[in-house]
Amino acid sequence: MRSDQWYAGTDRNAYIHRAWMRRGLPREAFGGGRPHIAIANTASDLTPCNMHLDEVAEHVKHGVWGAGGVPLNLPVLSLGETQVRPTAMLWRNLAAMAAEEMFRANPVDGLVLLGGCDKTIPALLMAAASVDLPAVVVPGGPMLTGHFRGLPLGCGTDVWRLSEEVRAGTLSREAFLASESVMIRSKGHCNTMGTASTMACMAEALGMTLPGTAGTPAPDARLLERAHYTGRLAVELVREGRTPSQVMTRGAFHNAIVTLAAIGGSTNAVVHLLAIAGRLGVGLTLDDFDRTGSGVPLLVDLQPAGRHLMDDLFRAGGLPAVLKEVADLLDPAAVTVTGRPLVEHLAEAEIWDESVIRRRSSPLLEDAGIAVLRGNLAPRGAVVKPAAASPHLLRHRGRAIVFDSVEDLRARLDTVDADETSVLILRGCGPRGYPGMPEVGNLPLPAKLLAKGVRDMVRVSDARMSGTAYGTVVLHTAPEAAVGGPLALVRTGDPIVLDVPARRLDVDVPAGELARREPVTAGFAAPSRGWERLYVDHVLQADQGADLDFLVGSSGHRVARDSH
Ligand code: FES
Repeated sequence: MRSDQWYAGTDRNAYIHRAWMRRGLPREAFGGGRPHIAIANTASDLTPCNMHLDEVAEHVKHGVWGAGGVPLNLPVLSLGETQVRPTAMLWRNLAAMAAEEMFRANPVDGLVLLGGCDKTIPALLMAAASVDLPAVVVPGGPMLTGHFRGLPLGCGTDVWRLSEEVRAGTLSREAFLASESVMIRSKGHCNTMGTASTMACMAEALGMTLPGTAGTPAPDARLLERAHYTGRLAVELVREGRTPSQVMTRGAFHNAIVTLAAIGGSTNAVVHLLAIAGRLGVGLTLDDFDRTGSGVPLLVDLQPAGRHLMDDLFRAGGLPAVLKEVADLLDPAAVTVTGRPLVEHLAEAEIWDESVIRRRSSPLLEDAGIAVLRGNLAPRGAVVKPAAASPHLLRHRGRAIVFDSVEDLRARLDTVDADETSVLILRGCGPRGYPGMPEVGNLPLPAKLLAKGVRDMVRVSDARMSGTAYGTVVLHTAPEAAVGGPLALVRTGDPIVLDVPARRLDVDVPAGELARREPVTAGFAAPSRGWERLYVDHVLQADQGADLDFLVGSSGHRVARDSH
């Protein structure tokens, strides 16, 4: 085993490696066929959604010991979506790079990946894909649902909704602030089908969890049981030599895209799946999302696209019950960490509440795939989630109101000359421009239109959007304005044409005139040092997953040289 490269033998280096680790570990923990399993733990007091993962790690440990392995807690860089500035996405690649290097540098044979809050599972999967050590995910699970004035609160989604109500004058600020204490009811991540819930489901659809684990609420005793079994499985994975590259195949990504549509998942999954696939050499493209997701029905009635919340999905049968309804669309050959195909794990699944999980015969939407748009505004693509958009805006022509940055937006939003047909454009928020591609693509609406009862308008940007947000919002426009993409050429007053059924996004201005315009790169200036400098010099555009160019691909887990 890999750990034997450190611990086996009688020379000085093997002595050093063993001696420093023997703080309570018995001699037989080293050598003798016991796999050493790192529990990559994103628990942090500053990542509120992952605070409970130390408890989960304890149960993974019991499972690892029980199966004859040696569990080792490995704290890795954690990201609290609501806490870190300027945006957690700036640090996803740093978390992935740091985790990858620590997985490779340490004497471990297998990995259990503990994530939850939005970027943590993507970063861990990117890292595990690049080292290609046997790995399995335990998603930390969603929180329980809090209630405010008798109504369930979808965290994230209802923050946007309530704050817009305050701006519209239909909710008092006192009432808004009173909701703060019940927004987050328990341990766990956001309870909507936001990015954290989506990425947990993506991990399962990719085959990287013990089937049936994603979506188990964080306070539910069954999460700890799953953690125990996952610990056992990690030992088995090492013994069988099953690695992420054998599990996350093209077929597994196909299954993830089908799942993304059926659950009405976050648009952020597009960027993350592209990045994970890039680490594995799976040639996934933006067009695969449109092609594979096309015709997949929306079966899950969860916020932000629908009504319910994650603990409802779990009690209604969970992800396996959803996948059973679309089993014929899944790749039957894609195996999971169990060594058996994903579809074989669905036989026992049942829908217990059809108001939460719809039957295939009565979907919420016939076609829920993420639409990929192209046109003279998005030569390398842009995405929109029709399930979260207003049907009457999916074909729309309107006058552009352009903002050069989020600061410009905040300063002028309520004074611009806009009506409900206007198209709000925000640039300077792509991977390089911000930097870090923040979740600001669902820009707020002008207060005077909110007061008139307008609740949605077409919005276009090079940013991302929180998975908990909703609206007719075109995102990830590539290339972004900061690298001279066409978004940098648009001016207020230009006619913008959105045609989602035709997959088009254009500015109706003659090509000659666009060519004459000076691009507005939104005051972009490269940072002078540190991670931000490395990031802006090497980050890829959204259509390539916004990974760093030199992190694409795999380096494996071999380390040729010893430390002494
Ligand atoms: Fe962590 Fe939403 S803020 S999952």
